[in-house]
Amino acid sequence: MNTAQFISKSSSNLVEKASFTWQTPSNIALVKYWGKSNPQIPKNASISFTLNNCHTITTIDFEKKEKTATVDFDLFFEGKQKDAFKPKIAEFFKRIQEYCPYIFEYKMTINSENSFPHSSGIASSASGLSAIAMCLMSLESELNTDLSEGEINKKASFLARLGSGSASRSVEGPLVVWGNHPEIDGSSDLYGVQFPYKVHSVFENYQDAILLVDKGEKQVSSTIGHNLMHNHPYAENRFTQANDNLSKISKILQNGDIKAFVNLVESEALTLHAMMLTSNPYFILMKPNTLEIINKIWEYREENNSNICFTLDAGANVHVLYPESEKKTVNNFIEKELAKYCQKNQYIYDSVGFGAKQI
Ligand code: DP6
Repeated sequence: MNTAQFISKSSSNLVEKASFTWQTPSNIALVKYWGKSNPQIPKNASISFTLNNCHTITTIDFEKKEKTATVDFDLFFEGKQKDAFKPKIAEFFKRIQEYCPYIFEYKMTINSENSFPHSSGIASSASGLSAIAMCLMSLESELNTDLSEGEINKKASFLARLGSGSASRSVEGPLVVWGNHPEIDGSSDLYGVQFPYKVHSVFENYQDAILLVDKGEKQVSSTIGHNLMHNHPYAENRFTQANDNLSKISKILQNGDIKAFVNLVESEALTLHAMMLTSNPYFILMKPNTLEIINKIWEYREENNSNICFTLDAGANVHVLYPESEKKTVNNFIEKELAKYCQKNQYIYDSVGFGAKQI
């Protein structure tokens, strides 16, 4: 695999001081990534909608110092020093040091905040890691001024992937594919690419209401869940099915067959959770209210000839997906019928977004 292209060219003109701020989005997978090999190589291709409102804003202050053997950084989350998050970021820096050797020559102060409520159960690793990757790429483009925007985004996604797989899909938008797939031109296991074909207008400005069913810590992290796909009795079939679903959704996104979209997206969500139910050790991340909501969505769809559907990530929260044309009626349904199944009646209205922004 050609990873050499991502090793930064050594530079003699390291700037003394720099500071960059990036806002990067969360994303919601339609075809799920679940299962990987080292180093962060997915077992199947996945595709996600980039979100608009759920994002992380991160500033990194870089200060030049003597080169050291370890990476020197402080981490603040919502204004407070957050040492609990440091090991994940330290591991990230370890994985990327080969590609960004300049990180040994700076003291980094990282300040991060999320737009979504703290511990909402919304995974912040995708937006969090992609924000750090974008800040690093801003520094790198000062060191190497030849980098084009395309190259910057590609390497940012490559780096973000090494922190968290799904973070590779949080640089661009509105639809990103990660994982090598024969029917997606330019796709790669190493980084995410924008879905390369023209998308039907029915999927423009698609809506995602995130229903916060359970805001607690997950009992099983995604990383452990991915590992349980090794020796999983259904793993190989699942990886084949996911790649087949990616071929199908590629056509659906182009031809606008929304009924087929609904069917595929819900099947993907339930299959992801079926993999958890059939792992050993087995685990359940859905809560009773997750199922209540799913049943209500099915009833509503039937009664109103609606195109509403749901998806789930690795948790109990429900992402309700619907076309912009149904925004008013579905929002009304959410407020009247679904909010009561959410913790403290909390939900977040979001829609499809366009990726990272420097601020
Ligand atoms: C269920 O990207 O969080 O959300 O690579 O170990 O950090 P790591 O895992 P992560 O897994 C996300 C899994 C998922 C499906 C998806 O986003 O495709």
